[in-house]
Formats: sequence, C-alpha cells, structure tokens
Amino acid sequence: MCGIVAYVGHQEAYPLIIKGLKRLEYRGYDSSGVALLNGEGLKVYKKKGKVADLENELKAQELHATIGIGHTRWATHGEPNDRNAHPHYSQNKKLAIIHNGIIENYAVIKQALAKKGHQFNSDTDTEVLVHFIEDLQESVGCGLEEAVRLALQEVVGAYAIVVMDANDPTQLIAARKSSPLVIGIGENEYFFASDATPIIEYTKEVVYLDDNQVAVVKNGALKIVNLANENQIPYVQTLEMELETIEKGGYEHFMLKEIFEQPRSIADSMRGRIQADEGELQLGGLRPYMDKLADAKRILIVGCGTSWHAGLVAEYIFEELARIPVEVEYASEFRYRNPIIKEKDFVIAISQSGETADTLAAIQLAKSKGATIFGVCNVVGSSIARETHAGSYTHAGPEIGVASTKAFTAQVTVLTLMAVSLAKRRGTISEELYRQLLIEIAHIPRKIEQVLKAADRVKEIAAIFTYARNFIYLGRGINFPVALEGALKLKEISYIHAEGYPAAEMKHGPIALIDEDMPVVFIATKDSSYEKIVSNIQEVKARKGRVIAIVTEGDSFIPSLVDFVIEIPKTHEILTPLLATIPLQLLSYYIAVMRGRNVDQPRNLAKSVTVE
Ligand code: F6R
Repeated sequence: MCGIVAYVGHQEAYPLIIKGLKRLEYRGYDSSGVALLNGEGLKVYKKKGKVADLENELKAQELHATIGIGHTRWATHGEPNDRNAHPHYSQNKKLAIIHNGIIENYAVIKQALAKKGHQFNSDTDTEVLVHFIEDLQESVGCGLEEAVRLALQEVVGAYAIVVMDANDPTQLIAARKSSPLVIGIGENEYFFASDATPIIEYTKEVVYLDDNQVAVVKNGALKIVNLANENQIPYVQTLEMELETIEKGGYEHFMLKEIFEQPRSIADSMRGRIQADEGELQLGGLRPYMDKLADAKRILIVGCGTSWHAGLVAEYIFEELARIPVEVEYASEFRYRNPIIKEKDFVIAISQSGETADTLAAIQLAKSKGATIFGVCNVVGSSIARETHAGSYTHAGPEIGVASTKAFTAQVTVLTLMAVSLAKRRGTISEELYRQLLIEIAHIPRKIEQVLKAADRVKEIAAIFTYARNFIYLGRGINFPVALEGALKLKEISYIHAEGYPAAEMKHGPIALIDEDMPVVFIATKDSSYEKIVSNIQEVKARKGRVIAIVTEGDSFIPSLVDFVIEIPKTHEILTPLLATIPLQLLSYYIAVMRGRNVDQPRNLAKSVTVE
C-alpha cells in the first residue's frame, strides 16, 4: 500500500524517482506524484492512474533537479484523483510531503488549522500534517527538523513520511511509525523508499528506520534522532538482494516468474537448515526457543489471507507430528477479541511482507500478555521480523506479484521444518519417520519442477473455463487449506467468484450450487482421505458438476470419474500442499491472463496491507 521514493544527491532525481515508483507498483496504488526542487523553486506534479500516466503527462517538460520526492497512493482518505494524490504542499507551498499510513487525529488538527485560516486543497490526512508542520515552524519559531518532531509528537496513527523544504536543496527529513522506510546510503547521495527495491540498483548499504525515529539528511550527512531529539546510532546493513530478483527475467508477468521460481525458492527456504542424508535439521532462529516451543501448552498461529492458509496447513502438520494443540486465527479477529493467552502459549506470526497492520497488532497484543512470539516472514528487516522475539525467514526472495505464490510455499516449507524438528525433539515421531520426512522434504524442489511441466496442460484447462462465473474448490484434511488458497488465488486475480470448502461440508449447503455450469476443483491425492474424496467427487458428478481433479500420478480410478485431471508426484501426505498448490496457482494465472486481467496488480489490492 502506498510507495515512497525520495532522493538527494548528484544524479537527476526525476528519472530515478519515476523508476523507483515503478518498482513499487506491485504494492498497489491508484495515483502517483513527484515534487522536485531546483532553481525555479519547489514544484509538485501528480496524477490519478499509473506512474506511466504521470510520466506521459510530464514528458514535454524539462525536469532537472538533484533532490525530489515521489509517491504512489492507495486511497484511504478521499477518492483516488489528482487532488488527493501526493505530494502535498503546505499552506505557503514552502514544504512538500509524501506519506504512507493514516493520521487518525487529522480531523481535530485540521479544524484548529482551519480556524487559523489554513485552506486545504485535498481531502487527505497527509495535507493536514504538512500544514501542521509549517504552522509549528511559524508559531514556535523553529527549524523544519524540530517542527517535524513536534508535529509527530501530537500525531496519532501510522506514518512513514518524507518532507522537502523549498529553502534547502540539500535537506530531506523522514520519519517512521508502523510504516516501513529504508534509507539507502550512496556516495554523497541518499535514497529513501518504502522497501529496498528502488534502492538496490544504486547501493546495498541501507538503514531501516525504527519506529519514532526521524532521519535528517542535510549537506550530505545523515543523522537519526528520536522524537525527543536524542541521537540514535544508525545500524547500516548490507542488502543481500540482487537486482535480477526484482525484474521479470523474460517472463510475461512477475506472478508467472514467481510460480516457476518455486523449485529454487523452496530450496532456499531449506538451505543450511536441512541435511537429509545426515538426518540433520536445524533452524537457527528456533534453536534458542526450542525448549519453550517443546514445552508449549498450545501453539497459536496468526496471519492474514494466504499467510493464514499457510497457518492452517501448519496446524495439521504440528498436531499430526508434534501432538501439541494448535489454533489458527485471523490476526484481524484475534486482535479485537479479548483472547485468552497464557505464558506457556507459543505464538507463530506468519507474514510475507512483515508489514501487515493486523498481524503486527496481534503480535503486540500477544506479547503484552506474556506469550513468546516467533515470526515466519519473508521480507528481511520488516516490522514483524523486528517485533517478534525470534523467527525464521522464509528466504523466498522478493515477491512482486500481488498474489502470493512462492511466499506461500516457502512459509509452508519453514513451518514444516519447524514441526518436524519439534516432533523429533518431543519424541512424538519415530527415528524412521523423521529420516523419511527429511528425505521427502529434500525431494520437493525436484518434484515441483515435475509439476511445472504440466503448465501447458493447465493452460488448456484454463482456456475451457476462462468465462466461468463461479468456482468451487474442495479438499479434505491437509488439502482443505489448499482448496481455500486455490479459491483465493482465482478470485483475486481473475475476479471470478470462488469458494473453498472442506469437501464433506459441501453436503451442508454448497451442493445446492452444483449444476453443469459449476466447475469444481478437487484436491484428490492418494492420502488418508482418498476414499472419502472419491465419494464427494461422485456426489458432484451425479449433479452434473464439471470436475477438475488434482490427483497423484498413477491414479487410474479418479481419472475415470472426472472431466479433467492434473497429476502431481507422490509424496508424504503432509507435504502434499507444497505440490498440489502449484497447478492451482497456474490455473488462476492462465484464467486471469485469458480474461485480460492485470495479473500482477489486480484491482483494489495492495501487496502489503499496512492499514487495518
Ligand atoms: C493473497 C495475498 C494476501 C496476503 C495477506 C497477508 O495472495 O497476497 O492475502 O497473503 O494480505 O499478507 P502478508 O503475508 O504480507 O502478511
């Protein structure tokens, strides 16, 4: 949601900012804008629509500047239009601001400023903040840096901001609370961005700003203070990300690239953690917390969307192997109940972005009640990764397509490793099963390569169902969350209504929907539910539903019952989701492409949901 890019240094700021904003497009947005400062003063340019629309509008202009700020906006306060796009000017147009997040008490501040004669040109909370900063500069008689700190002391809400001053072409002031902000440090130049993707082309040295910190770049130097103006030592990290990981690499869409990357991304999730031949499995982040996990009375898993689905898969595996009760909760529900959390609860928070506002709030709540929180995040240095007591990164690499694919399988991989390691520690599985699982896990990347070979077959099936109006996905046991994930993938990128159900639940309502126009996707692999799922398929076929079945290779019975079959290799039952998910991702992808959808940036969606 919303993207920030800012630059001060010796390069042309405008093309650099536009390129950076394009790199952040995946986050989801509806308008964009830039502000540049040069000999002609501080100028703001903004437009509803894509960054390319802004670029087109400005193409005839000579936009030279070595300092500038840019923004992609995902509307919260006020509709998506040119007026509400960022940057926003202050009352006297001496300042310009870009902002991610929400200023919750903006209405009160706006009222007070209006009484003083301030006039606003947008419906946004952000414009109020920059007016407030300028007003404090004037009323207190202080510099911009102090005014920013004073304003932020009054503000309730979440923000990542960058402020630019018409009077100082060497200065950018940034601050963060609950919204991510990274500062890139180059040779006499500084970059600010919502994540590292706009920065890595120029420098790998970065500082992730912490909550309530203010970063000031002035005359080529960076200083970081807190809101009380106490100096903070910047922790400079070296990014491990490579530029090619955030480019399409010859694929038509990031989503397709990320689906095909899964043999590698899953191998990366396991790298250094598992040595199947030696029977070794170690998650570095978990080691110091293994006693706590092994002693836990209950495991609580929180997450949203696809990450919640990964949690449901993990529930099955933890309970099956480690015999500890598990509860999986939507973070958004958990945080607003009065959940019973005890000290002996072990909480696992799952998040690709590591910035999801509801998951972050759920962690803070569980922490305040004394639970141990373990993060399973993809984005290194993200807020959730820092807020948790410990964690294991999924190492899937940057996921740019809005629909989560490789991040999901990486989450399931890490959670599986945790469960197997815990089961071994608790002695709830035999040495033989432990060894067998490690070997099977190590084979997963190769088996995914095999599944990906069926892409053309999936494409043919997609062509038949491109114009379906509804879909039902059914699975049992560990494959029920796979059904949920398949349905979510389809609806978010193709806009076809799709529902996932436990297959047996169909009889309790959804069966009323079955007729010859209803495609039903079954995850019907040879596992402990096989006979039951065969009965469910027969129930659908008896009502003329059209069935696509994901089956285990070599199965000759289900193919005789259903309309279309996609085979996946045999594996241990608990690992089936890692294979069965892949054809469902491909099915959604091809249907969405055939319907002409914007697969990587589906409407209304944001990659990291930083508002609740
Ligand atoms: C679905 C999807 C979303 C996210 C959800 C949580 O494809 O991407 O449902 O899974 O918004 O996001 P993270 O994992 O970043 O916390």
